[in-house]
Amino acid sequence: MTRPKVLVTRAWPADTETRLGQLAETTLRHPDTPMTADEFMAAATIYDAILPTVSDTIPAAFYPAAAGRVKLLANYGVGYNHIDIAAARAAGIAVTNTPGVLTDCTADLAMGLLLAAARRIGEGERELRAGQWSGWRPTHMIGRKVAGATLGIVGFGRIGQAMARRAHHGFGMKIVVYNRSPVDQDTLRAYHAIQPDTLHEVAARSDILSLHCPGGAETRHLIDAGVFAAMKPGALLVNTARGDVVDEDALFAALDSGHLGGAGLDVFQNEPALDPRFLAHENCVLAPHLGSATDATRSAMGHKAIDNLVAVLRGDTPPDLVTA
Ligand code: DGY
Repeated sequence: MTRPKVLVTRAWPADTETRLGQLAETTLRHPDTPMTADEFMAAATIYDAILPTVSDTIPAAFYPAAAGRVKLLANYGVGYNHIDIAAARAAGIAVTNTPGVLTDCTADLAMGLLLAAARRIGEGERELRAGQWSGWRPTHMIGRKVAGATLGIVGFGRIGQAMARRAHHGFGMKIVVYNRSPVDQDTLRAYHAIQPDTLHEVAARSDILSLHCPGGAETRHLIDAGVFAAMKPGALLVNTARGDVVDEDALFAALDSGHLGGAGLDVFQNEPALDPRFLAHENCVLAPHLGSATDATRSAMGHKAIDNLVAVLRGDTPPDLVTA
């Protein structure tokens, strides 16, 4: 019997690569660089399943070329804005993702960025490393108090709620929520949260706004000049969702005017390129898309992608089929 052919586009945790090798004729593509368009086009006629990541750009021509050959794109990650779901469906290719297993780690990182931005931890470390610290003084590097502050959460799915749990139960923050659909009252009550009608209202109430919505066309530049203008003077922005949810030109304008007090960012508009304007803003804490980057989580993501693969190879509906 011929074994299914599977392509893994990036280096994965060793335990998950071993499991894949036992299940299928697996190509572990180990130059740990994004797939090129040419590689995707070649893969379209070879593999039963391809397991890509957020940093692989899939060319539009791939989908029709892969129709009838590739059965599954099993994304290694929860966000799938880099995959054209409609084109995949038209080509008969199932798309799956890895929800749930990265919720806590992503919320942990968001909380870390929130604290680092509010308490100026990055600035402080840079001062120390540069040998410029002149000692404790009452007015040195004053930040913002987090306990009791109001946190606006944009997107109240798994990760948004995990953030609310940390912020409300751990730091006594007040929670206001923006979500595209109404959040049920029991869920809001669990965090003593309220859901105002508009994003601008949420922005206006928040000392810190944290983004947890999906990326893609619907949320592109959701955080624009109007939202920044609605925020309180000196408020902070945290983004662990997707870079293009924020209009970076509007972000820099808000930072330059001093209206926005700072930001903690794990994702950027043109990853991995970093807009050089960030380097001039000491009040931005920057991380290289590390939300899910812990050993346990990265392994769990791989196993979830493999569970989806196993289901499709068996002819079953995969547990994490993307239906959007
Ligand atoms: C996710 O899972 O969406 C992370 O951002 C990595 O892709």
